[in-house]
Amino acid sequence: MSDELVLVREFEVNKDRERVEEVERTCEVGPSNKLSLFTDMLGDPICRLRHSPSYLMLVAEIDEEIVGMIRGCIKTVTCGKKFSRKSTKQHPVYTKLAYILGLRVSPNQRRMGIGLKLVKKMEAWFKDNGAEYSYMATETENLPSVKLFTEKCGYSKFRTPSILVNPVFAHKTKISPNVTIIPLTPADAVILYRNRFATTEFFPYDIDAVLNNKLSLGTFLAVPRGSYNVETWPGPDSFLFGPPCSWAILSVWNSKEVFKLEVRGASRMRRAFCKTTRVLDRALPWLKLPSVPNLFRPFGFHFLYGIGGEGPKKVKMVKALCGFAHNLAMECECGVVATEVASCEPLRFGIPHWKMLSCADLWCIKRLVEDYSDGSIGDWTKSVPGTSIFVDPREV
Ligand SMILES: CC(C)(COP(=O)(O)OP(=O)(O)OC[C@H]1O[C@@H](n2cnc3c(N)ncnc32)[C@H](O)[C@@H]1OP(=O)(O)O)[C@@H](O)C(=O)NCCC(=O)NCCS
Repeated sequence: MSDELVLVREFEVNKDRERVEEVERTCEVGPSNKLSLFTDMLGDPICRLRHSPSYLMLVAEIDEEIVGMIRGCIKTVTCGKKFSRKSTKQHPVYTKLAYILGLRVSPNQRRMGIGLKLVKKMEAWFKDNGAEYSYMATETENLPSVKLFTEKCGYSKFRTPSILVNPVFAHKTKISPNVTIIPLTPADAVILYRNRFATTEFFPYDIDAVLNNKLSLGTFLAVPRGSYNVETWPGPDSFLFGPPCSWAILSVWNSKEVFKLEVRGASRMRRAFCKTTRVLDRALPWLKLPSVPNLFRPFGFHFLYGIGGEGPKKVKMVKALCGFAHNLAMECECGVVATEVASCEPLRFGIPHWKMLSCADLWCIKRLVEDYSDGSIGDWTKSVPGTSIFVDPREV
């Protein structure tokens, strides 16, 4: 197709919203007889961008008909760490990072270069705005997407984090009596995260904006019973000066307000089976049956982010926090609780999840400029993965 026939321009909410939603719907149709995941953006096509510090959505048009779209955002994150000359403490090295998400082309207009054109236009905006790297996330088996980015756009496979998903049962999860959970104020959480996790890859420089966002439902700290409680919490500085032998932290993001998901294509028998497990779980909560929530109508979820911890019992502390988060999600009528962690994250053993709902993600990255702000760590795209990553809930 002639390149001039395809016009790429900025998304205009009043003019384009309905037509963009139509294209999204045609892209969501899964293979017949198979389960597929439908995303309802609740009438807001930029819902997954609007909390980022800087973002853009583009649409592709042929004869005034929308045939594709792409979203992108830019923020500053940690890409490595270095020692300062004066101390042995490691410090984060930051870079301006762009992220591509929500790329879609109408099924009947594919393989005509529209996806490639959208990516190139978005990258031009990234460069104009000083981004040093660009990355995207996709399912490992999404060949069209992987090939487009790796073979045509110069991206390389970078990280393979795991998306861990756990159903919200009809019964409450029991939390270990040996663990105390303390809710932190956003200000305390900022100090704790900056002090302990700023050197984690992808840690956002504007962590304060994330934690103070109205979608962030809270940050919770788990400590061994008897060390601290809500009344004796000494504040983050004293805590960091002499923390208990083990502790863990996590924050909860209310993705339910951003978009809803729905599993489509399930047989009647499967639906009936799931319903039966729920009815039983609700009637006999003390049996703690692993019931399947109703995922066959639009459901919301909470996203757990900023999971970290220290000490020999940190996995146990994380498990208690996940139990707490499950009960919060149950109160808020979520269908599932989800999180994303590095493939070799040691704390993942404390995060309950169902294998059938969880999956591997593939992140591909590209360097956009020759000169980048901190040459001392070298090219980030060639760096060895750390044991943890920080997944920003604003882009889930
Ligand atoms: C991925 C997607 C956006 C590609 O859009 P597109 O307009 O068809 O892509 P292009 O025509 O620009 O293709 C450029 C290159 O990508 C690769 N590619 C695209 N579709 C492919 C396919 N079905 N199989 C193999 N390679 C493919 C090829 O290398 C292609 O170059 P070529 O045609 O010269 O061989 C489109 O398939 C889509 O909307 N998929 C569903 C949503 C999705 O998965 N989005 C990506 C999430 S990040």
